[in-house]
Amino acid sequence: MRTISVANQKGGCGKTTTCINLARALALSGKRVLAIDLDPQAHMSFGLGVANAATDKSIYNVLTDTSEKRRTLDDCIMNVSGRLDIIPSNILLSTIEQELKDTQDAVSKLHHILADQALPYEYAIIDCPPSLGFLTFNALRAADLVIIPIDMSAFSLMGVGKLLGMLELIKLKIGHAPQVKALATLFDRRTKYSQVMFDEIKTFFKEEMLETIIRTNVALKKAVAKGVSVIDFDKECNGALDYCALAQEVTRGEASAEFEAALRETTATGDALITLTPPRVEAPVTVAIEKIQPEEKKREAVSATRTENPREAAFTIKAPAAREVYLVGDFNHWKINDESKLNRDKDGIWEKKLGLPAGKYRYKFVIDGEWVLDARNADKEQNPYGSFDSIIALT
Ligand SMILES: Nc1ncnc2c1ncn2[C@@H]1O[C@H](COP(=O)(O)OP(=O)(O)O)[C@@H](O)[C@H]1O
Ligand SMILES: [Mg+2]
Repeated sequence: MRTISVANQKGGCGKTTTCINLARALALSGKRVLAIDLDPQAHMSFGLGVANAATDKSIYNVLTDTSEKRRTLDDCIMNVSGRLDIIPSNILLSTIEQELKDTQDAVSKLHHILADQALPYEYAIIDCPPSLGFLTFNALRAADLVIIPIDMSAFSLMGVGKLLGMLELIKLKIGHAPQVKALATLFDRRTKYSQVMFDEIKTFFKEEMLETIIRTNVALKKAVAKGVSVIDFDKECNGALDYCALAQEVTRGEASAEFEAALRETTATGDALITLTPPRVEAPVTVAIEKIQPEEKKREAVSATRTENPREAAFTIKAPAAREVYLVGDFNHWKINDESKLNRDKDGIWEKKLGLPAGKYRYKFVIDGEWVLDARNADKEQNPYGSFDSIIALT
């Protein structure tokens, strides 16, 4: 599991917005993600729609040493949607420093809790409070990567030195040195000032600056007020595009085939994020694939030009609760568009017939943004990105 802490003691620079949307974009790209809200104000919890969390099942209960309040990590994990889970926060968290101050190694408490068990996540995303206290120290100590959002406003670089100082201290005292990357946020292309600030920040951080720039986009504010990620709010707005690009940059090098394909679609056509809509697969998904060879096709199969004659393959999947289903694979360059869309019948079975030359093809279904294998087709192969694709061989 890779732990990413989003920290900056300056309030309003986009920490929570970054956590919410990076976490959701990663989850929609197929990664299992645990969001951890380490701010007693619980903005990330609210922003992800977790307004009704049990008050005795928050990150406070994970960190506390008071036996009657203490809970396991598993006890406090709530599902947000699909592959995204959260450990919510609670105002009680503001008392934890006082409570633990005499405990040995209290600043590494979160690190030990996360490191001491094999958690079924590829990423943990930690939202920090707007201060450089005990909680932020714990988050930095637990992090493999620290993202520092910096908004394009006056004084935004002031104070960053203190955060870097804290990281230096952690390196000296504990020997822990996470990767550090600055992220430009609230960038407004219409103002010259944003560019000036950006240049200043770039000069300061040099290569330690993420390439993705988060533009000012009002949809980000609206989404948080509704308790959903910006991708769920409006998958085509600049905020959604920027945070998906950030997720891609974060996963670069280990990006799954699915994510690469989804983002390729996004950037190539601009009809963005059609693949990154929230999963809504309530019913169990069953998939059937059958090769249809009408009489004339069977005859073609024995003809000399067999490889040039398309075989007709019907791909079907039962997903009554799905809003949209696509079939992507080698045969359509993994592109999600109108051509790869399946039609639904009245029983919730989605179907696509394709005429394909004989050969072996890799493919997957995309159900409301969720990339799934063909569950009824045992034929699958690992792809270069570590996950599996279903295989169909047409002879
Ligand atoms: N790129 C953006 N465009 C427009 N509004 C933004 C953007 N990023 C953050 N905001 C808004 O700015 C405010 C502060 O952002 P937030 O993420 O809560 O900052 P922090 O967690 O650092 O205090 C929120 O109202 C949020 O909706
Ligand atoms: Mg915040």
